[in-house]
Amino acid sequence: MSKNVSRDELVAKALGARDKAIAPYSHYQVGAALLTAKGDIVTAGNIETSTYGLTLCAERVAMFSALSDGHREFQAIAIATKNGGTPCGACRQVLWEFAGDIPVHLVDTENRVETKRLSDLLPQPFDNSKLSDTQD
Ligand code: THU
Repeated sequence: MSKNVSRDELVAKALGARDKAIAPYSHYQVGAALLTAKGDIVTAGNIETSTYGLTLCAERVAMFSALSDGHREFQAIAIATKNGGTPCGACRQVLWEFAGDIPVHLVDTENRVETKRLSDLLPQPFDNSKLSDTQD
């Protein structure tokens, strides 16, 4: 059964996930809360390592965790940072691939929320609709 989840609840989950981020190098903690079609919430924080380049962003950890759990459709994502930061380009691409044009709620640590559409953050995206033209 599908559960109703409010924007405020999703945003609160993202702020909670931010507290569990592992960011000892940048000190820029990010929390993500991904809302599935059924109303489940999958959360994650960014994870940094001493080799820096192996860092994983919170949004991609959340999405890959959700996919690994069997979720395939998504309604929205909330992303928590200290200053309302937007997702990086790679995360925009991965979110587009698996979630499409969802609302992206950006929340800062003062609980200020700004909502964007993913299509506004990632105009003219590449996706598998382009691959169907490659029958040559
Ligand atoms: N980061 C995210 O988790 N998500 C983004 O979309 C932008 C950047 C993380 C990666 C790194 O751990 C820290 O923020 C600083 O770049």
